[in-house]
Amino acid sequence: MDFSVRSGEPASQRTGCAVLPIFEEGLRGAAKEIDAAAGGAIKRLVRAGDASSKPGSTLLVPQAPGGAADRWLLVGCGKAAQLDMKRLASALGAAMTALKDKGVKEAVSYLAWGTDLDPYYAARVTVETVRSAAYRFDELKSDERSGSKLRRFGIAADGDAVRESRRGIAHGTAIANGMDLARNLGNRPPNVCTPSHLAAAAEELAAGREKLDVEILTEREIEKLGMGAFLSVTRGAEEPPRLIVLRYRGAGKSPPVALCGKGITFDTGGISLKPPAKMDEMKFDMCGAAGVLGTMAALGELEPEINAVAVIPACENMPGGRATRPGDIVKSMSGKTIEILNTDAEGRLILGDALTYAKRFDPRCILDVATLTGACVVALGHLHTGLFTKDDALAEALLAASARSLDTVWRMPLDDEYGDSLKTNFADIANSGSRDGGASVAAAFLAKFVDATPWAHLDIAGVAWRGESSKGATGRPVPLLVDFLLNLGPA
Ligand code: BES
Ligand code: MN
Ligand code: ZN
Repeated sequence: MDFSVRSGEPASQRTGCAVLPIFEEGLRGAAKEIDAAAGGAIKRLVRAGDASSKPGSTLLVPQAPGGAADRWLLVGCGKAAQLDMKRLASALGAAMTALKDKGVKEAVSYLAWGTDLDPYYAARVTVETVRSAAYRFDELKSDERSGSKLRRFGIAADGDAVRESRRGIAHGTAIANGMDLARNLGNRPPNVCTPSHLAAAAEELAAGREKLDVEILTEREIEKLGMGAFLSVTRGAEEPPRLIVLRYRGAGKSPPVALCGKGITFDTGGISLKPPAKMDEMKFDMCGAAGVLGTMAALGELEPEINAVAVIPACENMPGGRATRPGDIVKSMSGKTIEILNTDAEGRLILGDALTYAKRFDPRCILDVATLTGACVVALGHLHTGLFTKDDALAEALLAASARSLDTVWRMPLDDEYGDSLKTNFADIANSGSRDGGASVAAAFLAKFVDATPWAHLDIAGVAWRGESSKGATGRPVPLLVDFLLNLGPA
């Protein structure tokens, strides 16, 4: 879809569909101007109760009786005084639902026009929301099904807001492209989206972008590095593992941000086999890897002056005659020995070695992104990503990115005591402990593989995909990570 800024008088703007806000306080902004040009037609629709200011309500008016737009889409936006980015995003979401399966090919949004909203963020959120709503995954459907007919989307802005809106469109487009990549990788079935497939996706990204370089390590090379924890997870699988290292260089020699993404392309649980219900959803267990790749794609497109390196351990977690047994003890790259008590706690095993590997880049900070625990879903549902860090400055930066991007995180506790239940008589540490507080226990396990480097763990188990009738990957936390990276201060 093509986005552009549209300037000029709303009443004389030619468009297939003018998307207009209806506020509780009465007509404002573009709706007021177009209403005047149409002899009070919008006011009458509101008075008759056909159009409403109620958030989520929409009325598509074909053959608009005045002004230069073919149609109006009147969108309830609540109280004008309460309009914020979140309201704007949900109003746009409702607008996209109303335009679904309609003939509208081109539209202009006036939802933020003439309001106090920051034009950069308003444009960015508009692109992200519209693109997200238009996303379809139909590459494996035989008869390509009709998606949205919308091809061109205008964002109304005038004066000083034009430049900022253009910047918002560029950033929003890069974020949406990164989200689409993350969603496609997540949605592909596990017989297609294998570790080698993730590696090929990283190679494809690097091939198209000057500032991206990739290195793919094979099982032999992973062995040479001594990544016994990572290797223990792939043992039962026929499909070969990969360690994907993707670098973005936009700032000379300054220290990079390291992004570690969990890339389990299918999690059966291994010998600690999962129950069958919803096991298909464990194809999404590589969404941490996908989110990191989507973020790197956005960096490659926007070329900000920072450095970043993605470290992605990718493998399957399968049962089998050669699979790791509960009770097996393995040696991680850090030298720590791990007693594997539950082969279904595999994410922390591959990430422990990835965190150790990330240290060789002397990163300014490390973020890991993982569909790590069911316990995090119990704690936070499907609303927020779980944020675990002992570094308050890093927490502040991520919480700020969370608020700006609408891709929200909630800070969770990470006391050392959560690691107490990982004690074992037989090795340095066990991979599984108390079920209670399980998300923090997992984070405490990971903490043992990081030194003084500022580090944060993002548990995206509840937000990376939706289930049931809207089953599919969400593209989270690409907006969060890109916003965080674009707002990094000097190292
Ligand atoms: N990939 C799962 C976590 C998960 C489960 C995410 C369900 C989203 C929905 C992870 O590998 C796992 O199996 N974790 C176990 C850990 C336990 C064995 C300590 C869990 O959460 O049950
Ligand atoms: Mn598991
Ligand atoms: Zn898993």
